[in-house]
Amino acid sequence: YKRITTKTLVDMKEKGEKISMLTAYDFTMAKIVDGAGIDVILVGDSASNVMAGHETTLPITLDQMIYHASSVVRGINRSLVVVDIPFGSYQSDPKEALRSAIRIMKESGAHAVKVEGGKEIKESVKRILNAGIPVMGHLGLTPQSIYKFGTYTVRAKEEAEAEKLKSDALLLEKAGCFAIVLEKVPAKLAEEVAKSVSIPIIGIGAGNGVDGQVLVTHDMVGMTYEFNPRFLRRYLDLYAEMTKAFEQYSTDVKSGDFPNNKEQY
Ligand code: KIV
Ligand code: NA
Repeated sequence: YKRITTKTLVDMKEKGEKISMLTAYDFTMAKIVDGAGIDVILVGDSASNVMAGHETTLPITLDQMIYHASSVVRGINRSLVVVDIPFGSYQSDPKEALRSAIRIMKESGAHAVKVEGGKEIKESVKRILNAGIPVMGHLGLTPQSIYKFGTYTVRAKEEAEAEKLKSDALLLEKAGCFAIVLEKVPAKLAEEVAKSVSIPIIGIGAGNGVDGQVLVTHDMVGMTYEFNPRFLRRYLDLYAEMTKAFEQYSTDVKSGDFPNNKEQY
């Protein structure tokens, strides 16, 4: 695929091709992720944790998300760029949701937006879609609702929540969403949901019976180490690698080894 579109992703599901998705919040990382052939880049509100050091995703603002998104867009050639609408910028009413989505699309050049929730935000989703803006859903452990859940443990283990999740997925598909992220739910339930809809289900901690996977890039390359959920596979230990590099640099500066004769004018 030359350029990934929302339609490409639906076609991929139809053909049984899995979708790869990672986060990026800046130009340099986006360039690497895009160049590696990752299908979808998520400018996640996890930037609130990873970039800004907040404990939750709640504090990040719409302006800050637009700054991250515009930086990412300048780094990509092929990947589809999806941007989280942050907490507080779509929940109060559909008009506000549409205004926020329009600002993201116009000011960043991204290709789609993502919102958390099902039935509660149905009218907002429809409103955004009516304006021609593609919407990705997000169900299961939705971090913007962390204070309602009170815990980061697996969601929808109980019948009532599982039933609501299944009907929310159908509702988002019917509304016109092009894909749904499913976070931290039992693998069996996730597979059932993926089979019940024709739009791709992208899992994070949702097992292998879904249509694609997403991870937070900083976690999967091991730049962070405090966060250790079972679903996270670390492909690198960059925290240790970078620490070694910084320590060596410090040693070299202090000993006068850096810069050497070739490293000056
Ligand atoms: O903000 C984010 O990084 C996300 C992914 C974990 C799906 O929403
Ligand atoms: Na998010």
